Formats: sequence, C-alpha cells, structure tokens
Amino acid sequence: MIMLTTIADLRTACEQARTEGRTVGLVPTMGFFHEGHRSLMRAARADTDFVVVTLFVNPTQFAPTEDLGAYPRDPAGDAAAAEAEGADVLFAPDTEEMYPEPPLTTVHVADVSEGLCGSARPTHFDGVTTVVAKLFAMVGPCRAYFGRKDAQQLAVVRRMATDLNLPVEVVGCPLVREGDGLAMSSRNAYLTPEEREAATVLSRALAAAADLVRAGEREPAAVEHLIANMVAAEPLVELEYAEVRRAADLTPPTRLEGELLVAVAARVGRARLIDNISLQVSDADVRADLGVRVSPAGRSI
Ligand code: PAF
Repeated sequence: MIMLTTIADLRTACEQARTEGRTVGLVPTMGFFHEGHRSLMRAARADTDFVVVTLFVNPTQFAPTEDLGAYPRDPAGDAAAAEAEGADVLFAPDTEEMYPEPPLTTVHVADVSEGLCGSARPTHFDGVTTVVAKLFAMVGPCRAYFGRKDAQQLAVVRRMATDLNLPVEVVGCPLVREGDGLAMSSRNAYLTPEEREAATVLSRALAAAADLVRAGEREPAAVEHLIANMVAAEPLVELEYAEVRRAADLTPPTRLEGELLVAVAARVGRARLIDNISLQVSDADVRADLGVRVSPAGRSI
C-alpha cells in the first residue's frame, strides 16, 4: 500500500492503474476505522483491481456547532487497517490540499437530502456530496463503496451520480453491528459505558418494529410510535426522529408495502447516533434486513 497526500500523486497512481487495464474501487472515509469501514474495503478488494481508500475528516459537512474538532482520529491505526485489508492506496490529504480556497461550488441534491438527518443537519449533505464529487473526480473509480448505516447519505450520493451521469457505480454495503446490536460508528467512541449500554435501545427498537410489521401492522405511524415509546423509556437516549420512508426516494409511505427504510437518529451523551433497517413488505411476506452482527473478535455471526 502506498500513502499519498497530494491530489497530483493520487491522480497519477489512479491513471497508471487504469492504463494497465485495472478497475478502480473507491472507499471514501473519515477514518477511525471499525469493522464497518473494513467491510467496505473488503468489498472493494473483492470487486476491483485497484483499491483507493480516502481518509479525510471533511470540515464542510460539519456545522460550526458540531464535533469537527473532537472527531476521533487514529491515523497510524487506520493505515495499518487499510493495509491489512489490501488497499493499494491510502489517500490522506490535509484541508489545504482539498480546499486551497473556500469553494464557490456546491453540489446540492434536493428532496432526498431534506428531512431525516437533513432536518437537524441542513448543511451536512451539501458538504458530503461536494466532497464525494471531488473524490470521484480525483480517483475516477468505476465503483465506490458506502455503508447502508448512512442510508440517507447513500441515497443522496446515488441520486447525485444518476443526475450528473457520473460514470461510477455506487455500491451500498451491509450495515455492521456490534455483538449486542449497536450499529458500528466512529462516534460510539464518545459513549460512556452506561451510554453505550443505553444506546442498544435503538437496534432493539428497530428489531421490535420489524416484528410488529411481521405480525401484520401496516400503518407507518404505528411503527414510528413503537420506536418512540421504546426509546422514551431509556432516559439516557433522546430521540431525534423515528421515521418510515420508501427506500427508493425516501418519501413517506401512506401504508407499509414495498421496499422501505425504517430510520432513527438519537442523541446519547455527546454522540449523535443513527441506525436503520430495511423492510420488504408484500401481502405474502415481510423480509427485514437488520445488517450483520460481528463478534468481539470481528467475525460475522
Ligand atoms: O461517510 C463518511 O464517512 C463521509 O460522509 C464521507 C462519505 C467519507 C464524506 O466525507
């Protein structure tokens, strides 16, 4: 693995790989790698010939009141993890390299970026889409890998790639959970042991929501209330939203049918956590995708 910090060197490395006929896979990250990030790298390694992992804590997706300064960082550990997962390049630029002057251009994806996390973080997705568009332009990947934990981010990036005819396949990878169900997140590092325990209510509430739909419930509000009531019983967790949306475009459904996303966001101590499950509901059947759980040793269970 080579470590690069300049856009010029990154372009040269990717251009050479393409000249040699190799397919390029991109895993954009903000570092502090956990098993979720590593699963994206493994997916890219399995699918493509030349894997570029980017590590950049992108300031434009944080509001001034948010945790940019505190965001957890471990550059040495991240480099070791990316190398162990078979990355060819780890690109870790500084802010000056990515934004030599304040950008006048922003990529904005309407509708899909509004509501859900976009309500509490109105500038967040513009920061994400703009930096992801820049990374696509620098790397020229044929595939780019994003976790389904950030379901709205995945939908927004997909829509950007479609609308702008970007020649990249946006690949959504399974949400990865700790053994007790907590969705993996770099921000879990902010949690005290008590908060960490309390935060499992999010995945428990989502699993209960799936059970309710399996039992025949078809009203979106009933599912949202079940989650809100379970979270309300946990004093350390403050719910921001619990919402059911259509998976394709994140619009609210009138009835629970077809491909759906059940998404939650909550504050737990200093951390803002998100989680979700996918549901496929038909008259005959309800299928729930809760993601994958890993054991403490990092194996899927
Ligand atoms: O998901 C993340 O870590 C970030 O939002 C991303 C996609 C790397 C853009 O900064």
